[in-house]
Formats: sequence, C-alpha cells, structure tokens
Amino acid sequence: MAPHRNVELKARDDDPEATLAAALAHGAADQGVLTQVDTYFVAREGRLKLREQDGAGTLIAYARADEAVARTSAYHLVPAPDPAALKAALGDALGTVVVVEKFRRLLLWENVRIHLDAVEGLGTWLELEAVALADSDLTDEHRKVAELRAVLEIADEDVVATGYAAMLLEAGAATPRLVDLARRAMGRAYAPYSHFQVGVALRDEAGGLHAGANVENSSYPQGTCAEAAAISALITAGGHAIREVVVMADTELIVPCGGCRQRLSELAAPETPVHLAGPEGIRRTVTLGELLPLAFDLEEAKR
Ligand code: THU
Repeated sequence: MAPHRNVELKARDDDPEATLAAALAHGAADQGVLTQVDTYFVAREGRLKLREQDGAGTLIAYARADEAVARTSAYHLVPAPDPAALKAALGDALGTVVVVEKFRRLLLWENVRIHLDAVEGLGTWLELEAVALADSDLTDEHRKVAELRAVLEIADEDVVATGYAAMLLEAGAATPRLVDLARRAMGRAYAPYSHFQVGVALRDEAGGLHAGANVENSSYPQGTCAEAAAISALITAGGHAIREVVVMADTELIVPCGGCRQRLSELAAPETPVHLAGPEGIRRTVTLGELLPLAFDLEEAKR
C-alpha cells in the first residue's frame, strides 16, 4: 500500500477561541473534541508508542524520523483491543520514555485537518494537516495550508518543527526514566577489581534512551567506563547526538573521568545537562561545558 502523505504545520496558539471562530467562519466543520494519550516506550530499534483515543488503542511502531523518509514501509499500525493491559505490559518490559496527553478539537476544511490541541504541560497549539490525495504533486495541499495559515493569522515566530514528545523530553520528562536506567545499569556493572560500579544513561536526539555499565578486565587497562558503554549503545541503536546524561555511582558525588568528558563532548553540546546521581536519585546537575571547558575539537584545532 502506498504510504500516506501530509503537508503539515504546527504552531503555538495563545488564543484557541479566536482560532476556532476564524476556522468556523472560513467554513471548517467542527468534529468535536478527542482525548488522546500517547505513551512512548523504550525501543531498541525505531519508535514504539501506544495511542489511546477516547478509549480505543493503536500500537504504532515506526522508523526513526531521519530514516522514515526513505523507509516508509517500516511503519506498523496494530489495533490494541485492551490498551490498558498492553500499556502496563510494555511499560514493565521495556520502560516508558514519555507520555503525551492532549485534548484535540478536530475541524475539517476540505482535505485539511485542523487540530486545536491543549497539551498537558505544554499549553495550546494549532496543527494543520493537509492529507494528500493519491497522485497529488502536493501543490494543492501546500496552497490550502498557506490559505488557512493566512486566515488563522499564524505568525512565523509561532511555527515550530518539533513534536510534542520532543518538547516534553527537552523539558525533562524522561529524566526519571534515565535515572532508573542508570540505576539498573549500575547494578549490572562488572567491577570485580575496583568494586566501584557505575551506571550511565543517555537520551539521544530522537528520544531514544540508552544505558551502559563499566566492564573491567583482569588486564586492567582493557577495562571500559560506563560512559563508553552507553555511548556505544546509543550509536549501535542509530542515535547521533547526546541530549541528556545521568551518571550514577554509590559515592558522595560521582563525576565522569576526564577521558569520558571528552567522549561525551564528541556527541553532546556544552549546554547538555549531566545529572550526577546516587542510587536514590540526582544529587547535582551540571552542564558538559562546566565539566569540560575548552574541550578539544579537531575542526577547531585545525583552523
Ligand atoms: N568509571 C566509570 O565507569 N566512569 C567514570 O567516569 C569513572 C570511572 C569506572 C571505571 C572503573 O571500572 C571503575 O569506575 C573504577 O575506576
């Protein structure tokens, strides 16, 4: 089956009442308010989420955003007749990354869906989704989105490229899950020589969560730090960048070793948060830039 195609626009909307009135005046048909809860699970490959809409469940598995373009076949929609049980099972077995809860007022105007969304923790948003007709070259869909954009007075500065899940993650929604992952990794560390167990958890740019533990060796220099293991897990799973770090050990205040600060800086930014944690949770949060000022960067060095 050919994949569905949309022309989409998402923007902040501080006045949903005015937007609703303008959309109705332009001839949009009000389809009422939907309750949607999207639960994202930790998945080794791609993304996995359960959508609950007014009690009905659908399990949605899809490729990472950067691969989805080329691999549209890697998209599965599975009806979930018992969403509550499925959510509990997947949450226990895989872990939950983030939950996006929203009320969505759906309006239809020609083949454009207008979403007036009130998202838990994020406020009110407007989405336009022109569903492409088969064989369309998308000109008409772009024209309709542009027309509605003008009618609904959507300003350039209100338009965003990020999804709700990513916004919640940037605001720290996955931090407790990262702490859990670091704790589990720490418990599995192989440290028979130092007896010092370290667990590290990382969040990548697409909301993927990855963990690693230190693995020692009787030939001491062959041992590896937990950061290195977590970074390998992130790269192996298809991640590209580090957006958040938890480092955990049962000591007063664990800090990554110098070499691992350099390792992290390869994929993270100076402003990336690094949570320094003990078994009970975060004790202090610093940025990578604070841990490694004047980091070595080959491109910079060659200038
Ligand atoms: N260790 C880490 O895993 N990460 C760090 O940043 C500091 C040190 C590990 C390496 C070794 O297995 C043990 O802690 C003692 O140095």
